[in-house]
Amino acid sequence: MSLIAPSILNSDFLLLGDTVQMLNESETDWIHLDVMDGSFVPNISFGIPIVEAVKKTAKKPLDVHLMIVNPEKYIEGFRQAGADIINIHYEACQQKNLKSILRTIRDTGARPALAIKPDTPVSAVFDYAEYIDMVLVMSVFPGFGGQQFMEESYERIARLRSFFNDNNMDTLIQVDGGVSPGNIARLKSAGADVMVVGSVIFKSASPSNTISELKSLVR
Ligand code: DX5
Ligand code: ZN
Repeated sequence: MSLIAPSILNSDFLLLGDTVQMLNESETDWIHLDVMDGSFVPNISFGIPIVEAVKKTAKKPLDVHLMIVNPEKYIEGFRQAGADIINIHYEACQQKNLKSILRTIRDTGARPALAIKPDTPVSAVFDYAEYIDMVLVMSVFPGFGGQQFMEESYERIARLRSFFNDNNMDTLIQVDGGVSPGNIARLKSAGADVMVVGSVIFKSASPSNTISELKSLVR
C-alpha cells in the first residue's frame, strides 16, 4: 500500500488550522510542506513558523520539502519546528558536502530524503543511497502546484526501484508533481511508495473524500 502525502501549498492559508484538522481525520499518511525561497525555485511559499504552527495541531508526520539554497543552514531550525522527514535537493548542495548534510539530518532525529529535479539523472542519488530513507522524484519542475505530470517519471521511478531492489535496500521512493487519480495506480506499479498530491486534493469539493479515493487506488 502506498502512502498519501497531501501538499498544503495550494490550500487556503487562512484556514490552515481547519485544513490540518481535516488531514488528521482523513486517510492522510504524511503532511507534505513545500518550502520555497525564491532562489532555488522562482517562487516563495513559507518557512519555519508555518511548519511550527502546523506541528501544533498535526497528528501525522510532517514531510518537509526544502526547495531552498544552502539547506544545511536550516536543518536544525526545521527539525526544531517539528519536521519528521527532511527532504533536501541534490541540486541545492555541493556534492562534497552532501553526505555530511544528510548525516546531520539523521543526527537531529529526522529522516533524511534526497529530492531530484526532472532533469537530474536518477543515477545521481546512487552514491548517497545509504545516507537516506527516501528519494523524492520530482515529476514537474519544482516551484508551483498544479503543473502537468511529466510522463518520463514512470521510467525514472522504475530505474530507482530496480537499483534499490538489486542492492537489497528498502529506501522509499516518493513522487511529487501532477499526481492525480489518473496516474497514481501506474506510479505505484512503477515503484513509488509515497505520493505527494496538492491541487487535486485542495481544488476538489471534498478534500477528505479525494484523499480516500486516491488511497483506494493504491491499496
Ligand atoms: C512543487 C511542489 C509540489 C506541489 C504538488 O514544487 O513540490 O509538492 O505542490 O502539487 P500538485 O499535486 O498540484 O502538482
Ligand atoms: Zn513538494
